[in-house]
Amino acid sequence: MDFSDQVVLVTGASAGIGKAIAELLAEHGATLAVVGRNAENLRMVAEKCRGVKGKDVLEVVADLATDDGCEQIAKATVQRFGRLDVLINNAGMGARTCIQRAEMKTFDEVFNTNVRGVYNLTRLLVPELIKTKGNIVNVSSVSAYMTSVGSLPYSMSKAALDHFTRCIALELAPLGVRVNTISPGVTRTTFVQRLTGYDTSQYESWLSDAARGIPLGRVCDAAEIARMVACVAWSGASAVTGAILPVDGGLALAGVGHSDIMTRQMK
Ligand SMILES: NC(=O)c1ccc[n+]([C@@H]2O[C@H](COP(=O)([O-])OP(=O)(O)OC[C@H]3O[C@@H](n4cnc5c(N)ncnc54)[C@H](OP(=O)(O)O)[C@@H]3O)[C@@H](O)[C@H]2O)c1
Repeated sequence: MDFSDQVVLVTGASAGIGKAIAELLAEHGATLAVVGRNAENLRMVAEKCRGVKGKDVLEVVADLATDDGCEQIAKATVQRFGRLDVLINNAGMGARTCIQRAEMKTFDEVFNTNVRGVYNLTRLLVPELIKTKGNIVNVSSVSAYMTSVGSLPYSMSKAALDHFTRCIALELAPLGVRVNTISPGVTRTTFVQRLTGYDTSQYESWLSDAARGIPLGRVCDAAEIARMVACVAWSGASAVTGAILPVDGGLALAGVGHSDIMTRQMK
């Protein structure tokens, strides 16, 4: 995979899967714009990426859930590089709730980040991707199509994201722009600890529980998700568009959602 003539924007690059995506694409020669809210974490990722092949890395500290944040990300990227080849909409947040505990604040936070922010940033950058005949990779979740109790707005937001992928893949295909989704299953990142406040040993125990419901018998690591993101973003995937690709160790086949696992532990 060669990204040496490509400018790639990765949201949520300050942690977890986005960090792994940025680091992998740096190894494959990409020029990067990395986005996150935690400036210190983002700086460390950017420095590591610069150190790989000496390519330029733009750090954008911005909140994707706000209109100003999306405008800042799009403007800074185009000003710095004058082009965009790949947009990776990876940033996302979860929430532990169900309809009996539902609060509109949680719904709005989740949808503003996972759906509205993606919609807005994509809208702002599609003209650049049309110019380069580039592509978009959305990072969704198996929660989009697995039913489970305990992550209602999150699952709904990822279902919306999957349909966003299909709709814009159809719209942009005649313009030479591909759009795909990678759907991680349970993946070792900071995601669940942010949601639950688990300490390391509680998190390890949660991961062991989760692994028992996964056909491959283990959770994914962020590098495994990053490799599939890179594969579909790569020009070699030139006929792949509108695809929703699970990277979940077979979790969706087994039919036990990780939120079910989380809900059991909530009781
Ligand atoms: N981990 C899993 O098991 C799993 C499973 C399925 C799907 N996913 C999806 O994978 C994607 C990445 O998750 P992860 O596991 O890597 O989670 P993570 O470790 O919690 O990282 C989330 C990243 O998104 C960024 N982010 C969140 N809200 C943002 C906002 N409003 N504006 C800008 N950046 C924002 C965070 O930035 P800061 O830290 O700088 O705030 C961080 O870089 C998400 O879309 C998630 O839904 C994860």
